[in-house]
Amino acid sequence: MNSPSEQVEEEFGVPIPGTILPEDQWAKTALKKMPPPGPLDFAALFGRTAPIVLDLGCGNGRSTLLSALQRPDFDHLASDILPVVIRYATRRGNQRGLSNTRWAVIGGRELLRDYIAPHSITEIHCYHPQPYYERHEIGKRLIMPEFLSLVHRALLPDGLFVIQTDNPAYWNYIASVAPHFFEVQEHPTPWPDAPSGRTRREILALQKGLPIFRGLCKPRADLTEDALKALVKTLPRPNFNADRRLMVLDRLESEGEDPAAKQPPQRRRR
Ligand SMILES: C[S@@+](CC[C@H](N)C(=O)[O-])C[C@H]1O[C@@H](n2cnc3c(N)ncnc32)[C@H](O)[C@@H]1O
Repeated sequence: MNSPSEQVEEEFGVPIPGTILPEDQWAKTALKKMPPPGPLDFAALFGRTAPIVLDLGCGNGRSTLLSALQRPDFDHLASDILPVVIRYATRRGNQRGLSNTRWAVIGGRELLRDYIAPHSITEIHCYHPQPYYERHEIGKRLIMPEFLSLVHRALLPDGLFVIQTDNPAYWNYIASVAPHFFEVQEHPTPWPDAPSGRTRREILALQKGLPIFRGLCKPRADLTEDALKALVKTLPRPNFNADRRLMVLDRLESEGEDPAAKQPPQRRRR
């Protein structure tokens, strides 16, 4: 039961996981400055050894907050390229006392390439990577053969990659390349742990009645380093048409990004 001083926040009518604790229970979860490139020492970062979960392009951090609350025995590193969303997410991690989270401003590809030791990560999550609609932005799309190869390299052999999008063209592309790296199982229904959506974007897409494509990917065991390199060279890059009509959802998502953060949180009645 919440104490009178614990507070809940919500966005789009859906509570943000966890409650704001009294200040003396807050944690320090910011990874303020990335160290020089080299494998991150997670044991030093979290002060313990635990399975590591990454959330790449975490936005306002909902999925990581949920996972960290549900699984206190797992440590979580969430990243995004936008400092403002990481600021919101970090504050929420702090206010919920989630010492099993860290938040960093860095691209997903760069994090995997420069900071993650091979075969060291238990789960990598990537929810609704930016589709990038303009031709000149296509190179910014996160999911491409090189990225999938980095995910494969980062994961433990029995690790898990969770990828999801509401963009049909992006999903068609993912469904055509991901099986070269992973055994992919589609998960067509909402996540049982978050039926209204694990993330801000999933909540919006569900509320708009859009289809959501979710994939649970297990690394293929038969891939050598050379085979991975060959896949990166030969598989197509994500040159699909993301359909500009879907841009409206991006606008909605970024509009009033995190209105809950600007309003005083509600006090939950006992
Ligand atoms: C559509 S939003 C989805 C956010 C969140 N995962 C969700 O589902 O609500 C895409 C996010 O990816 C971030 N992003 C874009 N390119 C990125 C990259 N190369 N690496 C990490 N994050 C990236 C954006 O800043 C944005 O926060």
